[in-house]
Amino acid sequence: MLSRNQADGLVAGADQVSQYGELIYQQSRRLSEMIEQTLQYAGIHSHLGTRMRTAVDVEAVIAAALAAQKEELAREQFHVELSVPDGLPAVHGDANLLRTAINNLLSNAIKYATSGRWIGIRAEHSVKERAILVHVSDHGPGVQDADQERLFEPFYRGRTAVETGAPGSGIGLSLVRSAAEAHGGSITFVSTPGRGSTFTLRIPV
Ligand SMILES: Nc1ncnc2c1ncn2[C@@H]1O[C@H](COP(=O)(O)OP(=O)(O)OP(=O)(O)O)[C@@H](O)[C@H]1O
Ligand SMILES: [Mg+2]
Repeated sequence: MLSRNQADGLVAGADQVSQYGELIYQQSRRLSEMIEQTLQYAGIHSHLGTRMRTAVDVEAVIAAALAAQKEELAREQFHVELSVPDGLPAVHGDANLLRTAINNLLSNAIKYATSGRWIGIRAEHSVKERAILVHVSDHGPGVQDADQERLFEPFYRGRTAVETGAPGSGIGLSLVRSAAEAHGGSITFVSTPGRGSTFTLRIPV
């Protein structure tokens, strides 16, 4: 619609052109992200167990996910607190898939936790769990009780997301779960409505 107006010559003046350009850029980015996510989701389910696996540096994966969200984080004026200990052991897996998983957790925090404008990312090596844990926390609205059970279902969107009209298709967290499970890991969360959430990605080492 925006590009239609522009093509039809209904947009006049440099300001309006740049405003429309920015909106078209954002919408097309969202669209390509959605297509990429859907393809990745389908891809995981058809390649389970046969994906190429290499030694993956989790710190580098977190840095890449943060770099991918750099513009959004700046635009929405988020403060990011990053904590990664030295000497974190590598995990065995698919770096792209893990980056997408962390990217989805970040994009949710940016989208839903605008009230707090704070994201914490903390990685740790749990010897007890024989896993690397990546915690992504926010000070947003949290997850309503009614949504808690269904959050990781494909295409499920929470009440707040629907009520506020936040863009999305409900595939992000199901992709995170599939990515975790493809690595023999898991994704869980704790959330206090009105206070915030912490999502924890566990990848075995
Ligand atoms: N950090 C968060 N804080 C509060 N609610 C969240 C958070 N992350 C996810 N949710 C809730 O979980 C639902 C499912 O998230 P998911 O990432 O799967 O889908 P989405 O963000 O709605 O759409 P998409 O990821 O496809 O753009 C969201 O609709 C939202 O209600
Ligand atoms: Mg999402």
